[in-house]
Amino acid sequence: MSELYYPNKELFKDAAIKSMDEYWDLVKQAEEDYEGFWAKYAKEKIDWFKPFTKVLNEENAPFYKWFEDGELNVAYQCVDRHLATRKNKAAILFEGDNGDQQTLTYRELYYEVNRTANMFKNEFGIKKGDRVVLYMPMIPEAAISMLACAKIGAIHSVVFGGFSAEALRDRIIDAEAKLVVTADGAFRKGKPYMLKPVVDKALEEGCECVEAVCVVERNGEEITWVAGRDYAYNELIKSQPVTCEPEVMNAEDPLFLLYTSGSTGKPKGVQHSSAGYILWAQMTMEWVFDIKENDTYWCTADVGWITGHTYIVYGPLAAGATTVMFEGVPTFPDAGRCWRMVEEYQINQFYTAPTAIRLLHKTGADEPSKYDLSSLRVLGTVGEPIDPAAWKWYYEEVGGGRCSIVDTYWQTETGGHMISPLPGATPIKPGCATFPLPGIFAEIIEEDGTPTPVGEKGFMCITKPWPSMIRTIWGDPDRFVKSYFGDCKKDGKPVYFTGDGAMKDEDGYITITGRTDDVINVSGHRMGTAEVEAAIKKHDNVAAVAVVGKPHDIKGEGIFAYVVLKDDEGVADELETMKEINAIIKSEIGAIALCDDMAFVPDLPKTRSGKIMRRILRSLVKGEKITQDTSTLEDPSIVTKIEEIVQCKC
Ligand code: PRX
Repeated sequence: MSELYYPNKELFKDAAIKSMDEYWDLVKQAEEDYEGFWAKYAKEKIDWFKPFTKVLNEENAPFYKWFEDGELNVAYQCVDRHLATRKNKAAILFEGDNGDQQTLTYRELYYEVNRTANMFKNEFGIKKGDRVVLYMPMIPEAAISMLACAKIGAIHSVVFGGFSAEALRDRIIDAEAKLVVTADGAFRKGKPYMLKPVVDKALEEGCECVEAVCVVERNGEEITWVAGRDYAYNELIKSQPVTCEPEVMNAEDPLFLLYTSGSTGKPKGVQHSSAGYILWAQMTMEWVFDIKENDTYWCTADVGWITGHTYIVYGPLAAGATTVMFEGVPTFPDAGRCWRMVEEYQINQFYTAPTAIRLLHKTGADEPSKYDLSSLRVLGTVGEPIDPAAWKWYYEEVGGGRCSIVDTYWQTETGGHMISPLPGATPIKPGCATFPLPGIFAEIIEEDGTPTPVGEKGFMCITKPWPSMIRTIWGDPDRFVKSYFGDCKKDGKPVYFTGDGAMKDEDGYITITGRTDDVINVSGHRMGTAEVEAAIKKHDNVAAVAVVGKPHDIKGEGIFAYVVLKDDEGVADELETMKEINAIIKSEIGAIALCDDMAFVPDLPKTRSGKIMRRILRSLVKGEKITQDTSTLEDPSIVTKIEEIVQCKC
């Protein structure tokens, strides 16, 4: 049993949940009256245009509906309603890569969102239900465009700026987007990089659905303009009216799509709702981050991922908070960048990924001591398991042994946090997400629903629907059911399976042990093995391939490929092929999916029915002893041959 850490209670004396007794009390309330629990918060937190009368509709499970006859507008919830009490409060504090700064008050944000919403409507004919793809850098216009879509009822699909033209194209086509909003480019480590040329390339084929591209000027680099298709955001915005009536949206109307990787097939468009999503985004800001009126909150994620959606834009703004948006990287111009910003902005909550913590620990362990970090109260982590060494450094050196570390476990599909410490209540343990939040029935079970014994790994399932859950996979409801409700049952009914394994200790603390499927977690980003393999197979000389995750010091996991070549002419050929394969991956998916290493092997371990035994490949790359039964393999001797090749590499 690992040691418990107790953050300074004084810091959290006004927290929403102040003790474990209060926590258990809320858990009990949710158990005893599930619908009543959620109805109370939904009434209290959301400014409804029309109040709901029904809480949860389970008739068509797992296509659950929450607050289904209620009406609201998420942009109104995040911006308009704050004008009465916070019009001159900073909503967004932007810091660019080069240190340039911009403040948008709630009033200014309101006008910007309205003008952008009017531009989308008037110039591009965007209506309720239309899809808009945002391929944007980390600039305020990204958040403004998201909110502008929400204001007029359009469904946004933000595509991370690191994805390639091919990946962008697939997402545009799948969503049948009418408009793409992008920028010329932005800045990274002091240098300009480009986005618009990637959009141009994506639109070369098969994107007939796209009627216009709207381009924000950020880095001022030269770009090409396609007449009749491309429009300058900064020009068109000038003449737009500053007021815009919010579209009246049903609680269940989709707010956005966000594509994420699964174990098989193409990325899936995770569809989120309006009311349930915004309710939980706002509540978790209050419960998990203990956000207060005068706080300055900073989440370092990119808006291209769910963390950026829920915890840079929607959650903080719904809560009326001040949210920092950062264009740069944590190590530029040096490993003190984040801590300098914490000091300068007097950050109270800092939320980042274990990858960044490991990197900053390794490259600048002493940097935090050079800055005044006394404003910090809550330190968050997300996206992957955090190792105890990085956790302790974060706790002691960054948090000064006084802050709470909230190790938040959740997913694109869950919309918001599922398992996390509560800063005012939970004694914390390194590397441990601790307890499910009240209202969230996260249970570690076996496939048939029996509870997994303490100390053993089981399946991390959520056994009751929750308001911010995924509603469906865009255009593929069957895949939605199969992907999430096919593996585990409780009381004979299918329950949501996260794809993760987890373990409970004797104190009831939950540790996430990682994916149980073929998803690799690279720097907290999900990569489907099938996607990477499909890209590698495009190389002319590749006969077969299997990719697996390999432990990596900074990234958590890196991508390792076992490649069978059609024609292998030796080491020089292999090195060249490796470069070519990575070039294909970069163009098919993006640099985030590059392979760290490859082994060229004579064959893959396959069963007689042709199924690749990935577990063996995962064990081999970790240098683990093979415990699996290899007698069912078509050629059992292949394991030793691969082992020899891999051993030379590790
Ligand atoms: O494996 C879990 C891991 O990240 C996956 C979700 O990835 P994504 O949808 O991209 O969302 C990331 C940001 C929410 C999960 O299935 N994961 C997320 N948080 C944690 C985690 N693993 C361990 N500890 C966490 N705190």
